[in-house]
Amino acid sequence: MSNSTDELFKNVISHCKEYGFVFQSSEIYDGLSAVYDYGQNGSELKNNIKTYWWKAMVQMHDNIVGIDSAIFMHPTIWKASGHVDGFSDPMIDNKDSNKRYRADQLLEDRIAKLDEEGKTSEAEELQIEMDNALKAEDLPRLRELIIEQNIKCPLSGTANWTDVRQFNLMFSTQMGAVADDADVVYLRPETAQGIFVNYLNVQKSGRMKIPFGIAQIGKAFRNEVIARQFIIRMREFEQMEMQYFVRPGTQKEWFEKWKAARLKWHLALGTDAAKYRYHEHTKLAHYADAAYDIEFDFPFGFKEVEGIHSRTDFDLSQHEKFSRKKMQYFDPELGEDGKPYGNYIPYVIETSIGLDRMFLLTMINAYEEEDLSTEERQDSRTVLRLHPCLAPVKAAIFPLTKKDGLPEKAREIMDKLKLDFNIQYEEKDAIGKRYRRQDAIGTPFCITVDHQTLEDNTVTIRHRDTMAQERVAADDLEKIIGGLVSW
Ligand code: GAP
Repeated sequence: MSNSTDELFKNVISHCKEYGFVFQSSEIYDGLSAVYDYGQNGSELKNNIKTYWWKAMVQMHDNIVGIDSAIFMHPTIWKASGHVDGFSDPMIDNKDSNKRYRADQLLEDRIAKLDEEGKTSEAEELQIEMDNALKAEDLPRLRELIIEQNIKCPLSGTANWTDVRQFNLMFSTQMGAVADDADVVYLRPETAQGIFVNYLNVQKSGRMKIPFGIAQIGKAFRNEVIARQFIIRMREFEQMEMQYFVRPGTQKEWFEKWKAARLKWHLALGTDAAKYRYHEHTKLAHYADAAYDIEFDFPFGFKEVEGIHSRTDFDLSQHEKFSRKKMQYFDPELGEDGKPYGNYIPYVIETSIGLDRMFLLTMINAYEEEDLSTEERQDSRTVLRLHPCLAPVKAAIFPLTKKDGLPEKAREIMDKLKLDFNIQYEEKDAIGKRYRRQDAIGTPFCITVDHQTLEDNTVTIRHRDTMAQERVAADDLEKIIGGLVSW
């Protein structure tokens, strides 16, 4: 049994590997740092999270549509968005170990240490100094703070530091056969820009009226220097983003609506509300007029899972400036003065959730090592109490034995059910062992076909959470499973 949060987290990571949820990328070549692969159960769970999001955002809103834009985009887009010049971390190298660190992270760690030691006013002072230096982009001051605090490299143990330099987080590559600076393209660091540059295409072809939204799920890439905490910070990850285009002046109201709606989406999965909290950004990016994160209480503390940002008309105005194409929307609705609102660049509310963080949150939340010991014997099981909609496998079907026509009957039942649900067939090992394997991947139902099935076409169905078993007609299985796993 896990008796500390550290241990719980370690156990979840090994469970992810053992049961085909997440593998280290390129593992047989010793892995690739901060890159992961999703296995047979992980990809099912990931797809189910995407479906849950897509249904809530696109299917349930008649004024939100989805797109799938390319990962490669015109390089000027990243100039316009501010990513070429501003999407960077301040880095410092230790001359003895040649190891590179984020300067602000070294200082954050120091602040946490001071806090731990009860030196709160020193910690607060350092926090203010660091924030000021970051805001002013004063890199020499960041270095000074590191030296003043006598922060040492964890590897070499020395404080022999280089200057602090900005390090851009975007991956770049060459487009076309000839390597030329002019052909540099970036792997997108967010999916949002694919929405901004297509907003008029979608608005016109879909005859959308403000307010309306465009949603997208897709890969994003960031050359993160610090790879920490498993799939929390990856170099290749997935985002689920939605940009909601609104009339200027109404953004505050829409911001509040989306802030509430997004937390509701999280809680609808049955997660304990105490595990979530909002975090308000006090240092706003230059283009934002409000920003909140939705944070989850991971075993290593509260961490951002989703951001809700009021991005004003910054992105669309920038694209108008850089592309020299009009980004204005014509609003035919009449205002209080009886005249149409006319042409304007819409304001944007963005909701942006990291799919991989949502995946980890879901696994941590569902994972339980349950003690089933009785006075007679010790027993336990590891069970993933996933919401049935998210479970990778909806039902497993077991013939009691491998003979007497039971496998054939089990397969006959499975062939009917698999049209609607992801079903697994298992005939190896004792039934108890098979139950445990399905508990470990979160399968809500296990169906056993026995000799009585051949006589009266009934089966036993065993429920994951209660472990209770009941005898039901095989013909009712579709309804029983569907009742619990449908969206
Ligand atoms: N378009 C806005 C945007 O990209 P962000 O806060 O940088 O905002 C949004 O990213 C979400 O993407 C985060 O809340 C987080 O869940 C996820 N995310 C960001 N960087 C990530 C990384 N390196 N690995 C995994 N998820 C990441």
